[in-house]
Amino acid sequence: MEKTNLKNIIQGIPKAELHLHIEGSFEPELMFQIAKRNNISLAYDSVESLKKAYKFNNLQEFLDIYYIGAQVLINEQDFYDLTWAYLTKVNSENVVHVEVFFDPQTHTDRGVPFDVVIKGIYRALEKAKSEFNISYKLIMSYLRHLSEAEAFKTLESSIPYKDWIDGVGLDSSELGNPPNKFENVFKASAEQGYKLVAHAGEEGPVEYIWEAINLLNVDRIDHGNRCLDDEKLVQVLIEKKMGLTLCPLSNVELKVIQKMEEHPVLKMLEKGLLATIHSDDPAYFGGYMNANYLETAKALGLNKDHLMQLAINAFEASWLSTEDKQQHITEVKEYFKTLHS
Ligand code: ADE
Ligand code: ZN
Repeated sequence: MEKTNLKNIIQGIPKAELHLHIEGSFEPELMFQIAKRNNISLAYDSVESLKKAYKFNNLQEFLDIYYIGAQVLINEQDFYDLTWAYLTKVNSENVVHVEVFFDPQTHTDRGVPFDVVIKGIYRALEKAKSEFNISYKLIMSYLRHLSEAEAFKTLESSIPYKDWIDGVGLDSSELGNPPNKFENVFKASAEQGYKLVAHAGEEGPVEYIWEAINLLNVDRIDHGNRCLDDEKLVQVLIEKKMGLTLCPLSNVELKVIQKMEEHPVLKMLEKGLLATIHSDDPAYFGGYMNANYLETAKALGLNKDHLMQLAINAFEASWLSTEDKQQHITEVKEYFKTLHS
């Protein structure tokens, strides 16, 4: 496919974003603006010098900067502005459904109350629902470098807002923090009616993916790149129709893969895995949904059928009702039909 044509095709696809950390959508310009109004000085003196620091050799080097950036978020309005900026951006990219992570402990550990964080995020999500017709789910992530006891405290803080939260996730430093560390809190979260997802197999080994499935009982895996190392696991993931929320630009920036041409998503599609494409932390990794689709398609030579399958898989793996999934999938198929005519 010719490049400009490919870009237009991707723009027009109705898309679902299932793997997005709201703190990772914090663009440097907005970060400086919010830092100024909160009288906080950043360790960098300009947007340009901050952006220059965005060079990572692994997940931890990224997380160190990501947590520093989040420190300027203090007031409800800050969380609202952050979320609204993301939603405005993805609305312009024809994203029609989002499932957004937030990391409460990144904020509560600094003394910012849980309710301040969630109220700002929720207000923006509701506004996008009415103004942009973007549907959403909200996912509270536990930080895996902290203890399970601390995750339990977060679970407790979330109870008054249970109706606003659809599920829990597990993120932050993967290596050395296996899913089994959080078995009890995931069980307790499920008892509260939360759905379950976990980052697994981004940097960590296939055992972490097995644990996420067998011990945490997740119904979706974030990343899961490493699953191709284990054919038995691949078969289980296919049987369970387990969504894998891949983030190609993130994988390149964090050196999970050396170059985009090595990305496993095409192999995954060919095996029949429910692989999908998302942006993870778009402000840090060089692009939102469309850029992730585009760079992957260019590097792997994806055709229209692959793109359609990726878009359908995202709705399939989402937490939308069966009826809503079907409606979106029909719209995706209709869209691709118009391209053939
Ligand atoms: N938190 C934000 N982005 C993350 C990622 N890619 N992996 C783990 N934790 C994260
Ligand atoms: Zn992530």
